[in-house]
Amino acid sequence: MCKGKIGLIPFHYFINSEIQPARMASVRRFKFDTSDLHEKNQKSLIISIPEVLDPSYGMYVWPSAVVLAQYVSIHREEIKSKRILEVGAGTSLPGVVAAKLGASVTLTDDIHQPVCLENCKKSCQENQLEDVSIMGLSWGRFTPQMLELPPQDIILASDCFYDSKDFEDIVATFKFFIQRNNKCQCWVTYQQRSTERSIEYLLQKWKLKCCHVPLVLFGADSPCIAGSELPGNHTIEMMIITDQS
Ligand SMILES: C[S@@+](CC[C@H](N)C(=O)[O-])C[C@H]1O[C@@H](n2cnc3c(N)ncnc32)[C@H](O)[C@@H]1O
Repeated sequence: MCKGKIGLIPFHYFINSEIQPARMASVRRFKFDTSDLHEKNQKSLIISIPEVLDPSYGMYVWPSAVVLAQYVSIHREEIKSKRILEVGAGTSLPGVVAAKLGASVTLTDDIHQPVCLENCKKSCQENQLEDVSIMGLSWGRFTPQMLELPPQDIILASDCFYDSKDFEDIVATFKFFIQRNNKCQCWVTYQQRSTERSIEYLLQKWKLKCCHVPLVLFGADSPCIAGSELPGNHTIEMMIITDQS
């Protein structure tokens, strides 16, 4: 059982709007190696993600997203044909990688942030993904639309644990999906911003457990992943949350 330490101080990694004009748009490219060890020819998966320079959190790729996308890409055989739902998806890099590798993907973001849901859509369009479902899902709110979803195998969550007021809602959302499929795994990456906070008591309360996944195990212990300059010098952690039983 890992400690489940989570940092919380939100930060903007585009800092000075006097230097950077607001709402500057660009497309960021990521290249994931998808070749097997024994394959002679290297194959790459190229993903393009539209970003907008904007103070809203879901408008650009966060350092945690590239780490989670790398984990998804390394587990390409495991995720093929699995049902995967991403929460707080924003620009949706991990979910888009999963969809490109053959998973049946649903991307979600806060129902009150239509601009973020629009981003999920743009990321799918940019990568020629037509079969990905997109829906509003606000952590801790259980809607009829959520009840209509089929049981999910994997929940992806990249940089969702940044504001402690949301922690229990996120954990409760994980529990919702785990209750519908007790084999469901929640693959979580987060940015270490403070060692003062922990979600361990919430996992105990909701009868869940977590195990820490060292980044070195999936080649994500470098400041540059997938041909990008992310995660940079940020400390990213990964854990897998599952049912306690
Ligand atoms: C720090 S961003 C991370 C975005 C993306 N997962 C990434 O790593 O690049 C947090 C995301 O959570 C979403 N979010 C914030 N509050 C939420 C809530 N109450 N319910 C669902 N999503 C929420 C934001 O809209 C945003 O897309």
